[in-house]
Amino acid sequence: MIAVYPGSFDPPTFGHIDIIERAAKISTRLIVAVAHNYSKNAMFTPDERVAMLTEICAHMPNVEITTFSGLLVEYAGELQANAIIRGLRAVSDFEYEFQMAQANRMLNDKIETLFISTSTKFSYLSSSLVKEIAELGGNVGEMTPKIVLNKILQKSNVLCYNGG
Ligand code: PNS
Repeated sequence: MIAVYPGSFDPPTFGHIDIIERAAKISTRLIVAVAHNYSKNAMFTPDERVAMLTEICAHMPNVEITTFSGLLVEYAGELQANAIIRGLRAVSDFEYEFQMAQANRMLNDKIETLFISTSTKFSYLSSSLVKEIAELGGNVGEMTPKIVLNKILQKSNVLCYNGG
C-alpha cells in the first residue's frame, strides 16, 4: 500500500510520530505530506517542518517527507497512493475528519481514507496546544521530540524545556 499522511505538522508532536510509526508498518511506502497552508499563526515554515520530520523519521526507510499545495487528492493521485492516513484522537475530531474523508472520496473514490486511533497517552496532544504552551514558556518536553524543542527554543527564545 502506498499511503499519504497529510497535515500541517506545525510543529510535529509525539502524537504525529506515533501515527507515522504505525502507518509505516502497514505501508510499503508512506509519504508524510506537509501542507503549504499560509496560516498567520504558523510557527514554522513548511521547509522547517520538512527538515524536522526528516530527522525524526530517519530510522524508517519506507517513510518520505514532502510538501504539497492544492488539493490533497490530486497530490495523492500523482503519487498513485491507495490511501490517505489520518489520526483520530477523540470524538471531537470525528465530525471534521468524517467531512474531509467524504469530500475527498467524492473527489477521488479510488483513494481510501484510513483512520488510526491515537495512542491514549497522546490523545490530548495537538500542535496548537504545543505552540501555545511553548510560547507561554511552559514545558513541552513530554509532547514533542528534542529536535522540535530545540527549534521552538530558537524561535521563541523562551525556556520551555527543563529536561537533559
Ligand atoms: O493537520 P491538519 O491541519 O488537520 O491537516 C489538514 C489538511 C492539511 C490535511 C487539510 O486541510 C488538507 O487536506 N488540505 C489540502 C487542501 C484540500 O485538499 N482540501 C480539501 C480537503 S476536504
